[in-house]
Amino acid sequence: MRGATVFLALLLCLHGTWAQGESGGETGNHITETEEENRKKEVQFEIQDAKATHDQSSSQTNISPEIWAELKELRDMAIEQMVELRNSKSKIEKLEQENTVLKARMSSCENEVKELKRENAVLEARMSSSENEVEELKRENAERPKVAFSVGLTDAGEVGPFNTDITLKFIKVFTNIGQAYNPTTGIFTAPVKGYYYIRFNGWEARPSQTIRITLYHNDKIITTCFDNKDVYNLTVSNAFVLQLEKGDVVYMVLNSGYGIYDSLHNRTTFSGFLLFAV
Ligand SMILES: *[C@@H]1O[C@H](CO)[C@@H](O)[C@H](O)[C@H]1NC(C)=O
Ligand SMILES: *[C@@H]1O[C@H](CO)[C@@H](O)[C@H](O)[C@H]1NC(C)=O
Repeated sequence: MRGATVFLALLLCLHGTWAQGESGGETGNHITETEEENRKKEVQFEIQDAKATHDQSSSQTNISPEIWAELKELRDMAIEQMVELRNSKSKIEKLEQENTVLKARMSSCENEVKELKRENAVLEARMSSSENEVEELKRENAERPKVAFSVGLTDAGEVGPFNTDITLKFIKVFTNIGQAYNPTTGIFTAPVKGYYYIRFNGWEARPSQTIRITLYHNDKIITTCFDNKDVYNLTVSNAFVLQLEKGDVVYMVLNSGYGIYDSLHNRTTFSGFLLFAV
Protein backbone atom coordinates (compact mmCIF):
# COMPACT_ATOMS: atom_id res chain seq x y z
CA MET A 1 0.00 0.00 0.00
CA ARG A 2 2.76 2.35 0.94
CA GLY A 3 4.84 1.24 -2.06
CA ALA A 4 2.01 2.17 -4.42
CA THR A 5 1.76 5.67 -2.91
CA VAL A 6 5.47 6.25 -3.49
CA PHE A 7 5.12 4.99 -7.07
CA LEU A 8 2.33 7.47 -7.75
CA ALA A 9 4.43 10.28 -6.24
CA LEU A 10 7.25 9.36 -8.57
CA LEU A 11 4.96 9.34 -11.59
CA LEU A 12 3.71 12.79 -10.61
CA CYS A 13 7.31 14.00 -10.37
CA LEU A 14 8.05 12.58 -13.80
CA HIS A 15 4.91 14.18 -15.18
CA GLY A 16 6.01 17.52 -13.70
CA THR A 17 9.33 17.24 -15.46
CA TRP A 18 7.68 16.47 -18.83
CA ALA A 19 5.19 19.31 -18.44
CA GLN A 20 8.09 21.63 -17.76
CA GLY A 21 9.73 20.31 -20.92
CA GLU A 22 6.57 20.98 -22.94
CA SER A 23 5.98 24.49 -21.66
CA GLY A 24 9.65 25.31 -21.31
CA GLY A 25 11.82 27.61 -23.42
CA GLU A 26 12.09 25.36 -26.47
CA THR A 27 10.33 26.67 -29.50
CA GLY A 28 11.36 23.99 -31.98
CA ASN A 29 9.44 20.83 -32.63
CA HIS A 30 12.24 18.50 -31.79
CA ILE A 31 14.00 17.94 -28.53
CA THR A 32 17.75 17.71 -28.94
CA GLU A 33 19.56 14.72 -27.63
CA THR A 34 21.41 16.81 -25.03
CA GLU A 35 18.18 18.21 -23.67
CA GLU A 36 16.72 14.80 -23.54
CA GLU A 37 19.78 13.57 -21.70
CA ASN A 38 19.58 16.44 -19.19
CA ARG A 39 15.96 15.70 -18.56
CA LYS A 40 16.73 12.06 -17.95
CA LYS A 41 19.37 13.12 -15.39
CA GLU A 42 16.90 15.43 -13.68
CA VAL A 43 14.36 12.67 -13.44
CA GLN A 44 17.04 10.31 -12.21
CA PHE A 45 17.88 12.82 -9.50
CA GLU A 46 14.27 13.25 -8.53
CA ILE A 47 13.81 9.50 -8.38
CA GLN A 48 16.81 9.17 -6.11
CA ASP A 49 15.56 12.05 -3.99
CA ALA A 50 12.19 10.38 -3.68
CA LYS A 51 13.89 7.13 -2.89
CA ALA A 52 15.92 8.81 -0.13
CA THR A 53 12.81 10.40 1.34
CA HIS A 54 11.13 7.09 1.19
CA ASP A 55 14.04 5.39 2.88
CA GLN A 56 13.96 8.00 5.61
CA SER A 57 10.23 7.78 6.20
CA SER A 58 10.12 4.05 6.09
CA SER A 59 12.75 1.51 6.50
CA GLN A 60 10.27 -1.33 6.07
CA THR A 61 9.44 -0.72 2.34
CA ASN A 62 11.92 -1.34 -0.47
CA ILE A 63 11.60 -0.59 -4.21
CA SER A 64 13.56 -3.07 -6.25
CA PRO A 65 15.99 -1.88 -8.96
CA GLU A 66 13.76 -3.67 -11.54
CA ILE A 67 10.92 -1.28 -10.75
CA TRP A 68 13.24 1.68 -11.15
CA ALA A 69 14.39 0.34 -14.48
CA GLU A 70 10.78 -0.04 -15.60
CA LEU A 71 9.97 3.47 -14.47
CA LYS A 72 12.91 4.75 -16.51
CA GLU A 73 11.68 2.79 -19.47
CA LEU A 74 8.20 4.24 -19.03
CA ARG A 75 9.64 7.71 -18.87
CA ASP A 76 11.60 7.18 -22.10
CA MET A 77 8.47 5.90 -23.84
CA ALA A 78 6.53 8.92 -22.62
CA ILE A 79 9.19 11.28 -24.02
CA GLU A 80 9.13 9.49 -27.36
CA GLN A 81 5.37 9.75 -27.52
CA MET A 82 5.54 13.42 -26.67
CA VAL A 83 7.90 14.00 -29.61
CA GLU A 84 5.60 12.05 -31.89
CA LEU A 85 2.65 14.03 -30.59
CA ARG A 86 4.41 17.30 -31.43
CA ASN A 87 5.20 16.10 -34.93
CA SER A 88 1.58 15.06 -35.40
CA LYS A 89 0.40 18.45 -34.12
CA SER A 90 2.57 20.26 -36.61
CA LYS A 91 1.29 18.03 -39.41
CA ILE A 92 -2.29 18.68 -38.36
CA GLU A 93 -1.64 22.44 -38.33
CA LYS A 94 -0.19 22.22 -41.81
CA LEU A 95 -3.20 20.21 -43.04
CA GLU A 96 -5.55 22.71 -41.43
CA GLN A 97 -3.80 25.54 -43.26
CA GLU A 98 -4.08 23.68 -46.55
CA ASN A 99 -7.69 22.98 -45.79
CA THR A 100 -8.37 26.69 -45.26
CA VAL A 101 -6.75 27.53 -48.60
CA LEU A 102 -8.75 24.81 -50.34
CA LYS A 103 -11.97 26.01 -48.70
CA ALA A 104 -11.33 29.52 -50.01
CA ARG A 105 -10.67 28.21 -53.51
CA MET A 106 -13.75 26.02 -53.34
CA SER A 107 -15.89 28.94 -52.28
CA SER A 108 -14.51 31.05 -55.13
CA CYS A 109 -15.25 28.23 -57.59
CA GLU A 110 -18.78 27.93 -56.27
CA ASN A 111 -19.32 31.64 -56.85
CA GLU A 112 -18.01 31.32 -60.39
CA VAL A 113 -20.33 28.39 -61.02
CA LYS A 114 -23.26 30.45 -59.73
CA GLU A 115 -22.26 33.34 -61.99
CA LEU A 116 -21.97 31.04 -64.99
CA LYS A 117 -25.34 29.51 -64.22
CA ARG A 118 -26.90 32.96 -64.17
CA GLU A 119 -25.22 33.90 -67.45
CA ASN A 120 -26.39 30.62 -68.90
CA ALA A 121 -29.96 31.35 -67.87
CA VAL A 122 -29.75 34.78 -69.53
CA LEU A 123 -28.36 33.25 -72.70
CA GLU A 124 -31.02 30.57 -72.72
CA ALA A 125 -33.71 33.22 -72.43
CA ARG A 126 -32.20 35.18 -75.32
CA MET A 127 -31.85 32.00 -77.35
CA SER A 128 -35.45 31.09 -76.74
CA SER A 129 -36.56 34.59 -77.70
CA SER A 130 -34.49 34.41 -80.90
CA GLU A 131 -35.99 31.03 -81.73
CA ASN A 132 -39.46 32.49 -81.30
CA GLU A 133 -38.57 35.36 -83.61
CA VAL A 134 -37.23 32.93 -86.19
CA GLU A 135 -40.44 30.92 -85.96
CA GLU A 136 -42.47 34.12 -86.31
CA LEU A 137 -40.46 35.18 -89.38
CA LYS A 138 -40.81 31.72 -90.89
CA ARG A 139 -44.57 31.85 -90.39
CA GLU A 140 -44.78 35.36 -91.84
CA ASN A 141 -42.69 34.24 -94.78
CA ALA A 142 -44.85 31.17 -95.32
CA GLU A 143 -48.01 33.27 -95.06
CA ARG A 144 -46.69 35.95 -97.43
CA PRO A 145 -48.59 35.57 -100.68
CA LYS A 146 -46.57 34.59 -103.73
CA VAL A 147 -47.79 36.50 -106.73
CA ALA A 148 -46.24 36.53 -110.21
CA PHE A 149 -47.75 36.40 -113.63
CA SER A 150 -46.54 36.66 -117.21
CA VAL A 151 -48.88 36.22 -120.16
CA GLY A 152 -48.93 36.62 -123.96
CA LEU A 153 -51.85 37.90 -126.01
CA THR A 154 -52.41 35.29 -128.70
CA ASP A 155 -50.84 33.16 -131.41
CA ALA A 156 -53.59 34.21 -133.88
CA GLY A 157 -51.97 37.40 -135.23
CA GLU A 158 -54.29 40.36 -135.79
CA VAL A 159 -56.43 41.79 -132.96
CA GLY A 160 -58.67 44.79 -133.73
CA PRO A 161 -59.44 47.42 -134.68
CA PHE A 162 -62.84 47.61 -132.88
CA ASN A 163 -65.39 50.39 -132.58
CA THR A 164 -64.97 50.51 -128.82
CA ASP A 165 -62.21 50.04 -126.24
CA ILE A 166 -61.76 46.40 -125.30
CA THR A 167 -59.90 44.78 -122.43
CA LEU A 168 -57.12 42.66 -123.91
CA LYS A 169 -57.45 38.99 -122.92
CA PHE A 170 -53.94 37.56 -122.79
CA ILE A 171 -54.67 33.89 -123.27
CA LYS A 172 -51.10 32.50 -123.36
CA VAL A 173 -50.25 31.97 -119.71
CA PHE A 174 -46.49 31.60 -119.18
CA THR A 175 -46.59 32.01 -115.42
CA ASN A 176 -49.46 32.58 -113.01
CA ILE A 177 -48.27 32.02 -109.43
CA GLY A 178 -51.15 32.65 -107.03
CA GLN A 179 -53.68 32.66 -109.90
CA ALA A 180 -54.22 36.40 -109.47
CA TYR A 181 -54.38 36.90 -113.24
CA ASN A 182 -57.56 35.69 -114.93
CA PRO A 183 -56.97 34.67 -118.61
CA THR A 184 -60.75 34.64 -119.25
CA THR A 185 -61.16 38.33 -118.39
CA GLY A 186 -57.59 39.57 -118.92
CA ILE A 187 -57.70 41.15 -115.45
CA PHE A 188 -55.11 40.92 -112.69
CA THR A 189 -56.59 41.26 -109.16
CA ALA A 190 -54.27 42.09 -106.24
CA PRO A 191 -54.67 39.37 -103.56
CA VAL A 192 -53.07 41.57 -100.84
CA LYS A 193 -52.30 45.22 -100.29
CA GLY A 194 -48.78 45.85 -101.48
CA TYR A 195 -46.41 47.16 -104.07
CA TYR A 196 -46.52 45.44 -107.42
CA TYR A 197 -44.25 45.66 -110.41
CA ILE A 198 -46.27 45.76 -113.64
CA ARG A 199 -45.03 45.89 -117.17
CA PHE A 200 -46.30 45.29 -120.71
CA ASN A 201 -45.15 45.12 -124.27
CA GLY A 202 -47.29 45.74 -127.40
CA TRP A 203 -46.45 44.90 -130.93
CA GLU A 204 -48.09 45.57 -134.29
CA ALA A 205 -46.88 43.84 -137.44
CA ARG A 206 -49.44 45.11 -139.99
CA PRO A 207 -48.07 47.89 -142.25
CA SER A 208 -51.39 49.74 -142.29
CA GLN A 209 -52.20 49.52 -138.59
CA THR A 210 -51.33 51.96 -135.78
CA ILE A 211 -50.98 50.68 -132.18
CA ARG A 212 -52.50 52.33 -129.09
CA ILE A 213 -52.93 50.57 -125.76
CA THR A 214 -53.70 51.77 -122.22
CA LEU A 215 -52.75 50.40 -118.81
CA TYR A 216 -55.50 50.70 -116.19
CA HIS A 217 -55.41 50.56 -112.42
CA ASN A 218 -59.10 50.06 -111.57
CA ASP A 219 -60.73 52.78 -113.76
CA LYS A 220 -57.67 55.02 -113.64
CA ILE A 221 -55.38 55.32 -116.66
CA ILE A 222 -51.74 54.74 -115.80
CA THR A 223 -50.39 55.20 -119.31
CA THR A 224 -51.33 55.12 -122.96
CA CYS A 225 -48.72 53.97 -125.48
CA PHE A 226 -48.99 54.41 -129.21
CA ASP A 227 -46.93 54.50 -132.36
CA ASN A 228 -47.57 55.62 -135.95
CA LYS A 229 -47.72 53.39 -139.00
CA ASP A 230 -44.84 55.12 -140.80
CA VAL A 231 -42.65 52.16 -139.77
CA TYR A 232 -43.33 48.42 -139.67
CA ASN A 233 -43.29 46.18 -136.66
CA LEU A 234 -44.18 48.79 -134.06
CA THR A 235 -43.35 48.11 -130.41
CA VAL A 236 -44.50 50.00 -127.35
CA SER A 237 -43.70 49.19 -123.75
CA ASN A 238 -43.65 50.57 -120.24
CA ALA A 239 -43.26 49.51 -116.61
CA PHE A 240 -44.50 50.70 -113.22
CA VAL A 241 -44.41 49.96 -109.55
CA LEU A 242 -47.99 50.41 -108.35
CA GLN A 243 -49.37 50.43 -104.84
CA LEU A 244 -52.48 48.28 -104.97
CA GLU A 245 -55.10 47.69 -102.32
CA LYS A 246 -56.38 44.18 -101.90
CA GLY A 247 -58.93 43.59 -104.68
CA ASP A 248 -57.62 46.36 -106.92
CA VAL A 249 -57.49 45.39 -110.59
CA VAL A 250 -54.93 46.03 -113.31
CA TYR A 251 -55.53 45.37 -117.03
CA MET A 252 -54.63 46.45 -120.57
CA VAL A 253 -57.10 48.05 -122.95
CA LEU A 254 -56.88 48.24 -126.74
CA ASN A 255 -58.22 51.64 -127.61
CA SER A 256 -61.08 51.99 -130.10
CA GLY A 257 -59.96 52.15 -133.74
CA TYR A 258 -56.47 50.77 -133.12
CA GLY A 259 -54.95 47.36 -133.68
CA ILE A 260 -52.43 45.05 -131.99
CA TYR A 261 -50.71 41.89 -133.06
CA ASP A 262 -49.24 38.79 -131.52
CA SER A 263 -47.90 35.52 -132.85
CA LEU A 264 -45.71 32.62 -131.85
CA HIS A 265 -43.00 35.26 -131.21
CA ASN A 266 -44.72 36.34 -127.95
CA ARG A 267 -44.13 40.06 -128.56
CA THR A 268 -47.33 41.39 -126.94
CA THR A 269 -47.10 40.55 -123.26
CA PHE A 270 -48.37 41.57 -119.84
CA SER A 271 -46.45 40.75 -116.61
CA GLY A 272 -46.35 41.62 -112.94
CA PHE A 273 -45.37 40.45 -109.48
CA LEU A 274 -45.74 41.41 -105.87
CA LEU A 275 -42.63 43.28 -104.67
CA PHE A 276 -43.78 43.24 -101.05
CA ALA A 277 -46.97 43.38 -99.08
CA VAL A 278 -47.71 46.32 -96.76
C1 LIG B 1 -42.05 42.64 -139.35
O1 LIG B 1 -41.88 41.43 -138.58
C2 LIG B 1 -42.17 40.24 -139.26
C3 LIG B 1 -42.08 39.11 -138.29
O2 LIG B 1 -40.90 39.15 -137.53
C4 LIG B 1 -41.18 40.10 -140.42
O3 LIG B 1 -41.51 38.94 -141.13
C5 LIG B 1 -41.30 41.33 -141.33
O4 LIG B 1 -40.34 41.29 -142.36
C6 LIG B 1 -41.13 42.60 -140.55
N1 LIG B 1 -41.44 43.73 -141.45
C7 LIG B 1 -40.52 44.68 -141.75
C8 LIG B 1 -40.99 45.70 -142.73
O5 LIG B 1 -39.42 44.68 -141.25
C1 LIG C 1 -43.76 31.62 -127.03
O1 LIG C 1 -44.13 31.10 -125.79
C2 LIG C 1 -44.38 29.70 -125.80
C3 LIG C 1 -44.88 29.29 -124.43
O2 LIG C 1 -43.93 29.56 -123.48
C4 LIG C 1 -43.12 28.94 -126.20
O3 LIG C 1 -43.38 27.57 -126.24
C5 LIG C 1 -42.65 29.44 -127.53
O4 LIG C 1 -41.43 28.84 -127.87
C6 LIG C 1 -42.50 30.95 -127.52
N1 LIG C 1 -42.18 31.38 -128.87
C7 LIG C 1 -41.02 31.91 -129.20
C8 LIG C 1 -40.84 32.26 -130.65
O5 LIG C 1 -40.15 32.08 -128.42
